[in-house]
Parts: sequence; C-alpha cells; structure tokens
Amino acid sequence: MAPPRPVGSRPADKKFLRALRGEAVWPPPVWLMRQAGRYLPEYRATRAAAGDFLDLCLTPELAVEVTLQPLRRFGFDAAILFSDILMVPHGLGQKVWFEEGVGPRLEPLASPAAVATLEPQRLRERLSPVFEAVRGLKAALLAETALIGFAGAPWTVASYMIEGGSSRDFQKGRAWAYGDPEGFQGLIDLLVEATVDYLLAQVEAGAEALQIFDSWSGIWPDSEFRRWCLEPARRIVAAVKAVHPDIPVILFPRGAGVLYREVAEESGADALSLDTTVPLDWARAELQSRLCVQGNLDPVALIVGGAALDRQARRILEAFRGGPFVFNLGHGIDKTTPPGHVEQLMALLRAA
Ligand code: CP3
Repeated sequence: MAPPRPVGSRPADKKFLRALRGEAVWPPPVWLMRQAGRYLPEYRATRAAAGDFLDLCLTPELAVEVTLQPLRRFGFDAAILFSDILMVPHGLGQKVWFEEGVGPRLEPLASPAAVATLEPQRLRERLSPVFEAVRGLKAALLAETALIGFAGAPWTVASYMIEGGSSRDFQKGRAWAYGDPEGFQGLIDLLVEATVDYLLAQVEAGAEALQIFDSWSGIWPDSEFRRWCLEPARRIVAAVKAVHPDIPVILFPRGAGVLYREVAEESGADALSLDTTVPLDWARAELQSRLCVQGNLDPVALIVGGAALDRQARRILEAFRGGPFVFNLGHGIDKTTPPGHVEQLMALLRAA
C-alpha cells in the first residue's frame, strides 16, 4: 500500500494554485516578477561565475541555483523558472546574445524568407537544458512552493526578433504588421506553435502553472491588439489546455488598459497579471469578478521602501481582499531594489 501523502503536498493544496483556480486565499500568495536577478548579491556572484547570461540560463545547476536564491531569503509562494523570453528565438536557431550594459541582441529577422529559416522542429533539443532545470527545481522545492514556467507572448518575442534587440517603440515590427499582414501573420503563427511546444515541454518537466509575458502589448490600437496579442494568446491557452486542462495560465498583457476586460472574457486564461497603471476599483469590478488577478505594486515603490511602500501595498490588499488574488509587482523588480525592502513587504503581507 502506498504511504499516505502528507497534507499540503498535493499540488492543488498550494496557496498560489488555489488562488489561480478562483479561491480567495488570505493572506494572499505572493511572488515577484524577476524575483531572481541583479538586486541580489548572490545572483551577481553566480552570474559572474557563469560568465555569459545565456550560459547561466542554459546550465541547469546554475539556473536552479539562481531560481532558488530569492526563495531562500523571502519564502515566496511560487518559484519562477530562471530563464528568459528570448530562449524561444534561440531555440528556433536565431542568433541571440546579451551585451553588458546594452541588454539582449539578436541577428534581426527582416523578411518572410528569413522566417522560413527558423527551425521549430529543433526547439526542444536546443532548449533541453531548460527542461532539465525544471526537473531539478521540482526535486528541490518545498512541498508548498509552486513552480511557474513561462514564455514571452508571440508579439513581444517577435518585436525583439525583428528589431534585433530592445527598442523604444518597436517601429520595425509594427511597420511589418501594417505593411505585410500576411507575412507577419506567418511569423506570429510560427511563434504560437513554438510557444505551445515550449510551454508543454515545461509542464511535462514539472511546471505547475504558466505565465505568458506580453510586455509590449500596450503599443497597439485596439484592432491590432486583438489580432496580434489577444488572438495568439487565446490560441496558446486553448492548445495548452487541450493537453493539460488543469494547468493554470496567467497572462500579462502589459499596457492593455480597458482591453484587459476583453482579455479576461475571451483569452481562456485563469488569471491576469495587472500592470501598475490598472485602476484597482475598476479591476476589482471588471476583472476579479471573472478570474484571479495578480499584481500590481509599482516596482519604484519597492525601491523607495518605508511608508510609501506600505501605503501602496495596503491599497492593493484592500482592493483585492475577498476575491481570488496573487500579490505581485506591476512589472519586473528593478536591479537597484534593496533586498531589505522586499523583507519589509513580506512582513506586511504575512500580517495581512
Ligand atoms: O522572473 C524571474 O525571476 C525569471 C526570470 C526572467 C528573466 N527575464 C531574467 C532576466 C523572466 C521571467 C524574464 C522575462 C523577460 N525577458 C521579459 C518579459 C518581462 C518584462 O520584464 O517585461 C522581457 C521583455 C525579457 C527580455 C530581456 N531579458 C531584457 C529586455 C533584458 C535586459 C534588461 C535588463 O534588466 O538588463 C533581459 C535580461 C535578463 N533577463 C536579466 C534577467 C535577470 C538581466 C541579465 C543580467 O544578469 O545581466
């Protein structure tokens, strides 16, 4: 006879997963976008030992180590796999590198002919160290800590692939979409399929929830937002759920404004990650009534700390108390954030 499982170790019992499934859990579960990173001295040490950022992401022991670092300090309710949204272009065979002081760089993808050179059939093989890191994390995490897998959304990933790196306004990608919508659709379709494949492989390796980052969805008019952000996200969620109906999916359509409501109604996601500008009362009435919300502390309040941090965190707690909610930031943690301010925030949340 199998020994009885200890209470709390069933995946569905984890606070974070219960909230994603629609339960009002209090005090709320918490994790922070970019919780592993340069604001932690131990990250900087591991990063220096790895040398290159891509090597850090593609060396399973190191990726596991930096994923666990913020959990050791702060005891978040979820770990997010340490990786990057630009692993998908790398897995497709595009040249990706990270330049010190500059950020991500890619060999720009300029035409439908270049799209045809991408190799989705080799993605799982090229990214096998990522899946090994997920398996390693699954073995290392406490029973109550959930493991989040993630990917960038097709538009946000495409914007870097086309531009060859970060950009203020992603004009090249937007110009392609308006000038040659069929050709651009070909790239988005390829990214939808590659993203589904990549997320399914993370689930097979042990990820218990998924987040899709559409960091640049806020630059489109509504018609184009629906075509290039909402529809691809809906297709990804449907394809993942067709295989794993119980895996919760969080979408982060940053900057979507009032279109957050359409995303809540139509994407099929279990939760929406709210950016810092989404008004709390509106989100409570229009979004939290339909699904779990996650967010949305201003990362700058976390840099500042003190009374300003307490005030901003309390407003969010008051707004979302009583419904399904995961505390998080409205965007990634900044590298200048004092780790002590994260401790301050955690103390406030635990006493909520
Ligand atoms: O949240 C986590 O702790 C998991 C790890 C994670 C990273 N990037 C690590 C990282 C996640 C989830 C991401 C997502 C990501 N990457 C996004 C979407 C979220 C968002 O912030 O909008 C985007 C747009 C990227 C692309 C990317 N990667 C950029 C623009 C940069 C440079 C920015 C910077 O801060 O230098 C990266 C590099 C990167 N990804 C770092 C980390 C910790 C810094 C790398 C370093 O150590 O030098």
